[in-house]
Amino acid sequence: MRYFVTGATGFIGSRLSKKLLERQGSVVYFLLRSHKRGMMAPLLGRWGVSAERVIPILGDLTQPLLGISTADLDRMRGQIDHMFHLAAVYDLKASAQAQEAANVQGTRHAVQFAHDAQVGCFHLASSIAAGGLYEGVFREDMFDEAENLEHPYFRTKHEAEGIVRRECRRPWRIYRPGIVVGDSRTGEMDKIDGPYYFFKPIQGGRLNLVPVDYVVDAMDHIAHKSGLDGRCFHLTDPDPRRVGDVLSIFAHAGHAPPLSLRLNARMFGFIPESLRREIAGLTPVRRIGEQLMKDFGLPPHIMTFVNYPTRFDCREAQQALAGTDIRVPPLEGYAWKLWDYWERHLDPELSLDKTLSAAVKGKVVLITGGGAGIGKAAALKIAAAGATLIVVDREEERLRALGKEVEDAGGRIATYLCDLTEFDQCDQMVKKLLEEHGAVDVLVNNAGRSIRRSIEHSFDRFHDFERTMRLNYFGALRLTLGLLPAMQKKKAGHVINVSSIGVLTNAPRFSAYVASKAAMDAFARCAASEFADDGIAFTTINMPLVRTAMTAPTRIYEQTEMLTPEQAADLIVKAIIERPDRIATRLGIFAEVVHAVAPKISHIVMNTAYRMFPESAAALGLKDAAAEPQLSPEQIAFSQLVRGFHI
Ligand SMILES: NC(=O)c1ccc[n+]([C@@H]2O[C@H](COP(=O)([O-])OP(=O)(O)OC[C@H]3O[C@@H](n4cnc5c(N)ncnc54)[C@H](OP(=O)(O)O)[C@@H]3O)[C@@H](O)[C@H]2O)c1
Repeated sequence: MRYFVTGATGFIGSRLSKKLLERQGSVVYFLLRSHKRGMMAPLLGRWGVSAERVIPILGDLTQPLLGISTADLDRMRGQIDHMFHLAAVYDLKASAQAQEAANVQGTRHAVQFAHDAQVGCFHLASSIAAGGLYEGVFREDMFDEAENLEHPYFRTKHEAEGIVRRECRRPWRIYRPGIVVGDSRTGEMDKIDGPYYFFKPIQGGRLNLVPVDYVVDAMDHIAHKSGLDGRCFHLTDPDPRRVGDVLSIFAHAGHAPPLSLRLNARMFGFIPESLRREIAGLTPVRRIGEQLMKDFGLPPHIMTFVNYPTRFDCREAQQALAGTDIRVPPLEGYAWKLWDYWERHLDPELSLDKTLSAAVKGKVVLITGGGAGIGKAAALKIAAAGATLIVVDREEERLRALGKEVEDAGGRIATYLCDLTEFDQCDQMVKKLLEEHGAVDVLVNNAGRSIRRSIEHSFDRFHDFERTMRLNYFGALRLTLGLLPAMQKKKAGHVINVSSIGVLTNAPRFSAYVASKAAMDAFARCAASEFADDGIAFTTINMPLVRTAMTAPTRIYEQTEMLTPEQAADLIVKAIIERPDRIATRLGIFAEVVHAVAPKISHIVMNTAYRMFPESAAALGLKDAAAEPQLSPEQIAFSQLVRGFHI
């Protein structure tokens, strides 16, 4: 068989060409732009065949008859059994003009070529984009019904199909792949659009992802099957995943803290649709949305595809593939391969030395409450990265054990026994550590105390409010004030405060805790402005719930999904590396935004939580935790819904 392929240098085209070359004795002619001649050698290497079987034809989509010379046209005329037209501008950032020239005019020129060269069958790589953002189920026999074609990629892919349907006088077939991701067997992919799609924090639609090997195998099979001319095939997943599920699968594959990647679609279920749209349109929300996209490393135009409203029926393709083993594999099975490949080859951050060791090597990092929980997990990571680690804790035995663990692993550590609520002790410790180590480069105020008790059970418990303030605000502040002068002198420093997501969600029953954390957050915001030109940064981490000794007494949290101390420590690591003003999970920011723009809704959600969940036995002064009632299914469901929040 003889084939002519456009787009053979591209992501799908290069793999399809390889597949066609696996057919015995096949020859592939392919369109090559003259400035891409250098790709010939790597392509030959990739395809693993001799030069006689792959023949480059110089030309360009934007020229009539694809800009192919008369000599080449003469040589191919009547020789080509199948032409595969894949060349297109598939860059969502490309200008409308460039997409029009390549996708619409280019397809017209490709059809002209097919007529001139009398190709046996013309195969068009279209896209599900040709259906626009159609509301409902789009079938393979639908075309004119497409709607919401405003985006140039959607419009130009639709028009390209129209040209083939109306103008092509050779037999033709059309393929509409879903969003094509890397190879399900090797994870290999060429560009980073794939992960961009995976990580977009969007609300509720379904993402139709298909691996490139499925697309190639299906096109190859259907193209060679007789009796299918003039038809269109959806190369899509018959059972596409909801966005939330896709995110979860990739969060799992990427070992990411699930909470930071999951914007739980059901959270939005609380908000009426009309209000939801209104909220999304508000300038501050849009700006926060854009910031989120930036945090994710996503180009903002990706937001165009928020809430993909279309389902794609693919029974024609399924029927044509019946009896073969060509099918879309489940995403769970290969997500980790894509992630792994992306991380090793395509992660845009790879070129920057954004490692913890680059940030802390040779530096002095102090962490309070480092003997257990989040603090200990962070301390171990920081010491392993080559910092001089200083750990402050009020329990001698924990300090001794940690010191040994770090030193056994070859790290440098100094430990200081200090109860930060005893201000004299704190001052003495600061004096001593400055003498011994000079300035501290990074201070992590991690030690904290939490109390879960409603205000109505606290009327006579003023000391609860004093206790939380004394450690979470005054203790952290005393230490910070003690260390700032040396940082200022050095014109460098970083103060990281481990705060709480409760400050963003205004968690009922946590007024004493949240107020003390909010005080430190407010101090950091003011200080950041004062010390900006001294090279001192302040970061607030609005930490979601973490499974540690602090959350252990609250029985309802047994049912709740929480970060592990290691995942929480990764947020501290991120703070050290990136020095942002704030780190918060998307859920936390979302809660804050809802509270800012629709405080009533926020009150309703949080008051529901307050009324639904009991006071803990400890808060009621009961000794026996087992006396607490079991959670009802409704309570469990609600706690899943607002997972990561204090309830
Ligand atoms: N990837 C997906 O998720 C997906 C999903 C559905 C449908 N599709 C469709 O599948 C087809 C292939 O997509 P892909 O992901 O493989 O795209 P790709 O990797 O971006 O490849 C595009 C190809 O088009 C060629 N091309 C662009 N402008 C050209 C011009 N003026 N003249 C000649 N060739 C030109 C490129 O050649 P150079 O090497 O010379 O630049 C390259 O070979 C496209 O039609 C796309 O719309 C893709």
